[in-house]
Amino acid sequence: MAGKDQGTAEAASKHPIPPGFENALVSPEAYKEMYAASMADPDAFWGEQGKRIDWIKPYTKVKNTNFNFGEVSIKWFEDGELNVAANCIDRHLATRGDQVAIIWEPDGPETPAKHITYRELHDKVCRMANVLKDQGIQRGDRVVIYLPMIPEAAYAMLACARIGAIHSIVFAGFSPDALANRINDSEAKAVITADTAPRGGRRTPLKANADAALLHCKDSVRCLVVKHTGDQTTWTEGRDIDVLALMGAASADCPAEAMNAEDPLFILYTSGSTGKPKGVVHSSGGYLVYASMTQQMTFDYKDGDIFWCTADVGWVTGHSYIVYGPLANGATTVMFEGVPTYPDAGRFWAVCEKHKVNQFYTAPTAIRALMGQGPEWVEKYDLSSLRVLGSVGEPINPEAWVWYDKHVGKGRCPIVDTFWQTETGGHMITSLPGAIETKPGAATLPFFGVKPVVLTAEGGQVVEGNGVDGVLCIGDSWPGQMRTVWGDHQRFQETYFQQYKGYYFTGDGCRRDEDGYYWITGRVDDVINVSGHRMGTAEVESALVAHAKVAEAAVVGYPHEIKGQGIYAYVTLMNGVEPTEDLRKELVKWVRTEIGPIASPDLIQWAPGLPKTRSGKIMRRILRKIAENDFGALGDTSTLADPSVVDDLIDNRMNRG
Ligand code: WT7
Repeated sequence: MAGKDQGTAEAASKHPIPPGFENALVSPEAYKEMYAASMADPDAFWGEQGKRIDWIKPYTKVKNTNFNFGEVSIKWFEDGELNVAANCIDRHLATRGDQVAIIWEPDGPETPAKHITYRELHDKVCRMANVLKDQGIQRGDRVVIYLPMIPEAAYAMLACARIGAIHSIVFAGFSPDALANRINDSEAKAVITADTAPRGGRRTPLKANADAALLHCKDSVRCLVVKHTGDQTTWTEGRDIDVLALMGAASADCPAEAMNAEDPLFILYTSGSTGKPKGVVHSSGGYLVYASMTQQMTFDYKDGDIFWCTADVGWVTGHSYIVYGPLANGATTVMFEGVPTYPDAGRFWAVCEKHKVNQFYTAPTAIRALMGQGPEWVEKYDLSSLRVLGSVGEPINPEAWVWYDKHVGKGRCPIVDTFWQTETGGHMITSLPGAIETKPGAATLPFFGVKPVVLTAEGGQVVEGNGVDGVLCIGDSWPGQMRTVWGDHQRFQETYFQQYKGYYFTGDGCRRDEDGYYWITGRVDDVINVSGHRMGTAEVESALVAHAKVAEAAVVGYPHEIKGQGIYAYVTLMNGVEPTEDLRKELVKWVRTEIGPIASPDLIQWAPGLPKTRSGKIMRRILRKIAENDFGALGDTSTLADPSVVDDLIDNRMNRG
């Protein structure tokens, strides 16, 4: 999306820092000084920053990292010991035990909100931790969490952290198959789920999905069920456990395990350009330092502020900016069960008014969807509590940025456009409210400790200076960086460190403009970004070809008004199969059940043949152009085995927009 109007937006002048940010945590001068210090001596810089959290055993070493392909190794604070849950709860009890830690806002406004204090959070987390221990979960074991946006999701994460178990959250929108794959790949001992999940007035049958998934998992996997709605579910004696009942009976006292800084805190599966989703492994110490520092500084979070990140805990944004970052800082964090448009398009703003939200953090896709409903939905509410607005998930198009600034922020709230990834643990390139002037659509400048490097896509030459384009790499490690791919360190190295030697490769393209600001221009690999959610085209393709009537499939992204990118599938049917509208619907439904609704193809084109090279490689460049309705310049098609297939694909293209 950024590409379209980038030229004019870039030329536009910077938006100055609005009044009221003179005393922001980071001033323009402090940003420059601290950034320079973080580059000059990372050991000294992070050695100091590491003290923002409590250590059971202080570290004596800070950075020990290696980006060389073949020997990649990332360690931070490696001899330190800590407990993440104790940092997010216990250490606040003396000073803010009665302060609200989590405000839970339910799906429907008629249901009352819940206000959970740090003391209550401690009680719940200890009880849940004891329930896990009673089920035989020990330090180092994996626990899959398949929960909706309810407080128990945060309790479950922190309960795992408390006993040293590694959680792996599976987004509640994922299918039973996707859940089973993640339970099996992580060799989880238990899955924590709920009966059903209300969302936008509808209910997802989570427990039924878990039942279906568990048919493909070891019999020993326990199923801990949170009875959230009270809806009827099936019950397998001996396997299913009523968590809330057991929590009621459990002890509210549970010691926090001393974990090494490098012990994994969680695994989160994410899509890549090839193969099945990877288990991204995050550490305990470095991750927490980075999540807490970015939450505080990027949003200029001050004691007493109400912070709302609208993401789902099923994504990394929810991990770092609903749970770990805010709670490590003793913040009050809002957790929202619903969707932006239910019961109406004013829901976000109603919640901001109701809970007097100070920092609001959402995705461009939500802004675009609400923009389409008209500003009157925003204007109905008192948004005077808002101070900082955030954006995350994909490049924000300047129109959406300007609308967000004008109608939501009333021109007085800095917008922080935070570029980062599941792999990075926290913000990488972002403005800071009191320190960095913004430009609509630009992620602006690197966070402390982050060294962006622009390389030529082919050849990987470093591109110096400003006003340049290339692929975005990072030159050195930062504490929040992922440590490995679960069970496959080789894949970690190959995915991120092989193509451009000595660098971490983000997979994104970028431009560094005349002012040195970074503009992320989108993925340069076979990953598409649908409503801020990452999808591997290979995953959708393999779901499609798993259907009996499909011979071959190729999937690409195309520009979509609301979603940013939509999913465009070219499908070759088995010999003799009729291409019908019903079959089209059937395939969409098929992908939804194989992966989940977020992977549903938006457009399916019947393709009698796909453009292939003589060696059989599909030329995606051509398919992308056709899907973008931009086939004027298809480039060189002479290497195709049968160039005539291209004409047929153009004639029958689906996106004539
Ligand atoms: C990809 C990572 C980590 C947050 C949620 C998505 C894109 C993310 C921005 C932004 C431009 C962005 C990139 C990145 N992306 N934020 N502010 N501006 N692009 O996490 O699923 O790991 O996806 O999202 O393409 O590589 P993710």
